[in-house]
Amino acid sequence: MSNQSKQSSPTPNTDTTTIIETRDLTKRYGNLVAVDQLNLRIEQGEIFGLLGPNGAGKTTTILMLMGLTEPTSGTVRVLGYDPVRQPIEVKRVVGYLPEHVAMYDDLSARENLQYTADLNALPLAEAKRRIAYALERVGLADVADRPVREFSHGMRQRLGIADVLVKKPRVVVLDEPTLGLDPEAVNQLLDLILAMTREENLTVLLSSHQLQQVQRICTRVGIFVKGKMIAQGTIAQLAEQLAGGMRTLEVYAEPRGEELVNVLKQIKGVVSVEQDTAYWLVRATSEVRPEIARAIASRGWSLYHLRERDYGLEEIYLKYFQN
Ligand SMILES: Nc1ncnc2c1ncn2[C@@H]1O[C@H](COP(=O)(O)OP(=O)(O)OP(=O)(O)O)[C@@H](O)[C@H]1O
Ligand SMILES: [Mg+2]
Repeated sequence: MSNQSKQSSPTPNTDTTTIIETRDLTKRYGNLVAVDQLNLRIEQGEIFGLLGPNGAGKTTTILMLMGLTEPTSGTVRVLGYDPVRQPIEVKRVVGYLPEHVAMYDDLSARENLQYTADLNALPLAEAKRRIAYALERVGLADVADRPVREFSHGMRQRLGIADVLVKKPRVVVLDEPTLGLDPEAVNQLLDLILAMTREENLTVLLSSHQLQQVQRICTRVGIFVKGKMIAQGTIAQLAEQLAGGMRTLEVYAEPRGEELVNVLKQIKGVVSVEQDTAYWLVRATSEVRPEIARAIASRGWSLYHLRERDYGLEEIYLKYFQN
């Protein structure tokens, strides 16, 4: 018998930089594998975007993080807590905005937040302070005493964020926070998430199927399709992976015929030259822009356009999601 068995009591992780960690996290519904051996590690201060199309398993993952549904197999730790065994501890440190924000329609915004404060056993004076701060922060101070029934969808989402802030969480989990908002409201909400992450020293996980929207604020994204994380990293890293070390250059020069193509093809590092709508597309394994410029200039030709093409998030999205 080893005396190490004493260590089995659930104590928070002392490794303070990892905030959320899953290992081979799996959830099955009958024959369906909604989340398939997910390995996720989110560090302090990150805004991590869990990106994937409808039905990818984003909400299921979030429910497991929050201790609201049990994993079929694998493990989760949130600030060192195990949501299966310590759901109350997890809920205390995590601010959670569910997919469908539930508020009491007949109560005012302030009363709804007071209800949350009561559930979290905040002392009254402190609760009042935090509620006022949160309402101010999300721009609802002016309508704080109106019943929520009169609120638009965007106002409800902002109230949901205020609700998350009242608890003064260390971690925030937002399930599709921008869904159903108009573009301006999306931008405002994203700015708010960014600002509060910095000001309150938070770590954020947000899910979305709208990559274009979240790329602006996410430090890292994971592309999640059919329960599997198929790529993870910064937008730049994903773009690089996608390009496979290959660069794509747009070239427009006069004269623009076969002669130009032959010159381009002879440059070391150039793999192919193809016609695009307006440009020649040059694929190369190294930085060949100076050679291209020199080759064209030295023949007395005119170079009008020479640019490296970036993979935008849209291309990343389509590429990964189509596979
Ligand atoms: N309680 C449940 N019982 C059975 N199947 C479920 C249950 N919840 C989710 N699923 C299935 O699990 C898969 C993942 O669903 P989930 O809600 O996690 O996806 P999502 O990525 O959040 O999608 P969306 O973008 O539409 O919110 C889907 O195929 C869904 O039908
Ligand atoms: Mg969902």
